[in-house]
Amino acid sequence: VSEREALGAARLTRCSDRADVLDAPCGYGRHAVPLARRGLRVTGTDRSAAMLARAAEAVRSASGTGPLPRWVRADYRRLPFADGSFDAVLNLFTSFGFHGDTEDGQVLREFYRVLRPGGALLVDVTHRDRLSRSVRASRSDGEFSFDLRTGWLRMVHLDGGRSSESLIRVYTATELVGMLTAAGFGVIQLFGDLDAGPFSWDSRLVVTARR
Ligand SMILES: C[S@@+](CC[C@H](N)C(=O)[O-])C[C@H]1O[C@@H](n2cnc3c(N)ncnc32)[C@H](O)[C@@H]1O
Repeated sequence: VSEREALGAARLTRCSDRADVLDAPCGYGRHAVPLARRGLRVTGTDRSAAMLARAAEAVRSASGTGPLPRWVRADYRRLPFADGSFDAVLNLFTSFGFHGDTEDGQVLREFYRVLRPGGALLVDVTHRDRLSRSVRASRSDGEFSFDLRTGWLRMVHLDGGRSSESLIRVYTATELVGMLTAAGFGVIQLFGDLDAGPFSWDSRLVVTARR
C-alpha cells in the first residue's frame, strides 16, 4: 500500500525519474524507501529521532537493493535545506495541521522555499467538510471531539489501559488553497486520492501546487 501511495504521489507532482524529492515528514520511511529504490533522489525528514531510527533499521533488514533515502532530523517549520533544493515535496498521510494556522502557514512557506521554480508540493490530508459528516462523539477504540469554532480535532486513543491524545487542525479545501496561495504557490489542483480520483465531500483532500 505504501509503495502504491508513494508512486501515486510522485506521479501527481509530475517529477522526473531522477528528481530530488523531499518526504516531509517521512515517519519511518514507508514512502521514501520505495521512491529511492526506483531511482528518485529522496530525502526523508522528520523531527522524531525514534521514527528515523526505525526507518534506518527497516532499510537494513529489508530485502532488495538500490539507492536509499538520506535521513535528516528536522522540524519542518525550519528546514535545514538551501533554497531551491528539491523538485518535489511530499507531505503524506495527514501530516499537516499539527501547529495551528500561523505555524502551519510557516510550514508551507518552508516547502515553497526549498522547492525549485516549477517544482511541486503535494499535501495529502483529511478535510473539514468530510470530517464534519463523519465525526462521532465516541468510538470503541477511542474518542474524537471536534471544536466547531477553531477547527481543531482532538483524538483520544485508548490502548489497553493507557490513553494518549493528539490534536490536529483540520482545514477546509478553501482554507488550504488560501494558505497555499498566501505562501506563494500557484497552479493548485485538488484530487480525492493519490490515484488522481475526484475530490468530493467524502474523499481525502490531495492538493498539488506549483512554485
Ligand atoms: C502521521 S505521521 C506520518 C508520517 C509519514 N508521512 C507516513 O505517511 O508514514 C506524522 C509524522 O509527523 C512528524 N512530525 C510532527 N510534527 C513535526 C514537525 N514539526 N516537524 C517534522 N516532523 C513532524 C511525526 O514525528 C510523525 O512521524
